[in-house]
Amino acid sequence: MIDDIRPLAVVTGASSGIGYELARLAAEDGYDLVIAADEPAIVEAQAGLERHGGKVEALQVDLSTVGGVDQLLALIGGRQVDALMANAGRGLGHGFLDQDWTEARFVIDTNITGTVYLIQKVARDMRDRDRGRILITGSIAGLMPGSFQAVYNGTKAFLDSFAWALRNELKETGVSVSCLMPGATDTEFFERAGMLDTKVGADPKKADPADVALVGYRAMQKGEGDVVAGFKNKLQAAMAAVTPQSVLAEQHRKVAEPGSGER
Ligand SMILES: NC(=O)c1ccc[n+]([C@@H]2O[C@H](COP(=O)([O-])OP(=O)(O)OC[C@H]3O[C@@H](n4cnc5c(N)ncnc54)[C@H](OP(=O)(O)O)[C@@H]3O)[C@@H](O)[C@H]2O)c1
Repeated sequence: MIDDIRPLAVVTGASSGIGYELARLAAEDGYDLVIAADEPAIVEAQAGLERHGGKVEALQVDLSTVGGVDQLLALIGGRQVDALMANAGRGLGHGFLDQDWTEARFVIDTNITGTVYLIQKVARDMRDRDRGRILITGSIAGLMPGSFQAVYNGTKAFLDSFAWALRNELKETGVSVSCLMPGATDTEFFERAGMLDTKVGADPKKADPADVALVGYRAMQKGEGDVVAGFKNKLQAAMAAVTPQSVLAEQHRKVAEPGSGER
């Protein structure tokens, strides 16, 4: 019977990095979990998270597709979702014209389409119940034009903006929307994005994903609007607000251009 009274958290992209740490925090906090990612490592993550005592259901699914998100919704099965952490995301380096279109589209479909579709479905139920917490993993990348990561930064600009808009639309309800905005974090992200030869990808001083997740998790629980993880990133975010876009784009080129890590 105890299972019946545990809150439920849904975490996407929970197989590694920031998402795994978000799921771990929720598990430690007494949530049952539904977790999803698109590779088999999600099953290993499930085993690790089950150690915290709650029920953990894992789904290996491609969340860049409506059909994939529908599979996740079917697993949730109309249960009350107390916390949704929409975190799954992909990066992609190199010049836009040199990117493979399928890969670029996968970034858009994962970071934007799948994310907002899932949020719409889950948030409608939350609004009906007048209760729920949503955390979207955006990025400080959304605050600057991402030369040599143009599509990715564009998707994060979308999410950073979307989070504030949805938050405002729901302000008279018991549903909160928070946006976690990490800077460079030490996860598999840069390897998967093909950016290990860039200055940002090779930076040995990236943030610890556990620290980043904790900042986001706390912001979600407090119902805060957005949170930038880390002092250096807070400074960068503040500077981005008063720096011309052309200058930001040039700065981004310096850290994200292929080969910049070797200079
Ligand atoms: N690392 C950074 O510097 C940084 C900075 C700012 C924001 N972020 C954001 O933080 C979030 C988490 O990234 P991370 O840094 O923790 O990287 P990560 O270790 O690569 O984790 C990404 C997670 O998203 C999942 N995912 C990606 N595409 C998916 C898809 N189509 N369907 C289902 N799951 C998918 C991955 O699952 P699989 O392993 O199964 O593919 C993985 O669990 C992303 O939204 C990213 O944009 C990262």
